[in-house]
Amino acid sequence: MSATSFKGRTVLITGASSGIGAALARRFAVAGSRMALAARRVERLDALADELAGSGAPKPVVVEADLFDDRVPPRLVRQVRDELGHIDVLVNNAGVGYSGRFEDHAPEQIEHLIQLNMRALVRLTHLVLPEMIERRSGWILNVASTAAYQPIAYMTTYAASKAFVLSFSEGLWAEMRQHGVVVTSLNPGTTRTEFFDHHGWNKAREMFMKRAMTAEAVAEIGVRALARGKPSAACGKGNRVLAAISALLPRSWSARLTAKALRPAGS
Ligand SMILES: NC(=O)c1ccc[n+]([C@@H]2O[C@H](COP(=O)([O-])OP(=O)(O)OC[C@H]3O[C@@H](n4cnc5c(N)ncnc54)[C@H](OP(=O)(O)O)[C@@H]3O)[C@@H](O)[C@H]2O)c1
Repeated sequence: MSATSFKGRTVLITGASSGIGAALARRFAVAGSRMALAARRVERLDALADELAGSGAPKPVVVEADLFDDRVPPRLVRQVRDELGHIDVLVNNAGVGYSGRFEDHAPEQIEHLIQLNMRALVRLTHLVLPEMIERRSGWILNVASTAAYQPIAYMTTYAASKAFVLSFSEGLWAEMRQHGVVVTSLNPGTTRTEFFDHHGWNKAREMFMKRAMTAEAVAEIGVRALARGKPSAACGKGNRVLAAISALLPRSWSARLTAKALRPAGS
């Protein structure tokens, strides 16, 4: 399949205020896309919009959106349509992760993860798809993770949420082929972003950071995979090898190996 150009396309990116989302915004700006950037930290989005406009790209629309709130996805889509017209590309990037003992996580933390990583992603996808199907044109990039490939002890909820995103995206990729709509799961390994700053990742962070990629490299792989209509893309050779090994290992082995590696001190 020949690669698509996103020049002039309208792209909505969630979680664009930092990390992979911001890198994707910069990458789509280079491609000449028109953009809407959504997240809670609106001052970050404004700064990014100014930066992109300063580099000659069309100035993105900034939308303050807390996707923990169930009412926000329909509002977000409505606002983007009002300001930019139909959405050609949806990038479901916003996500959070926690490491540590499941029983120690606060209920609100768990709810936030489930809401953001899965419910909001599915809701936004469901909101934009009918128009894409009608137009026989559209692209959805869902940011999963290499955590999707196997169970990971002490990152249980996060890994399970990303397994959901990968499976959802691949299934939908096949459903949407007949409609001319592409759905791609982008599966980064450890990436240097603010992701690990927030959520008590101490032990996992040390272990994972050794092999970290840049957000820019991840964004490049994501946009290329989407343009080529791929169902999913693991980021980097090391992560592709990891994915292949994970597929061969019994899942109980992965669970036990990760439990050994990531068990918090004193457990
Ligand atoms: N970094 C990694 O190693 C890695 C690896 C694999 C996959 N990923 C995935 O990549 C995606 C982006 O993460 P990142 O690494 O770029 O981390 P990040 O820099 O922490 O970015 C997370 C983004 O999600 C947004 N977000 C968080 N809560 C939100 C909410 N309630 N409503 C709307 N937006 C919200 C944040 O914006 P606000 O705080 O401004 O709302 C931020 O823009 C996530 O889905 C993550 O799971 C990351």
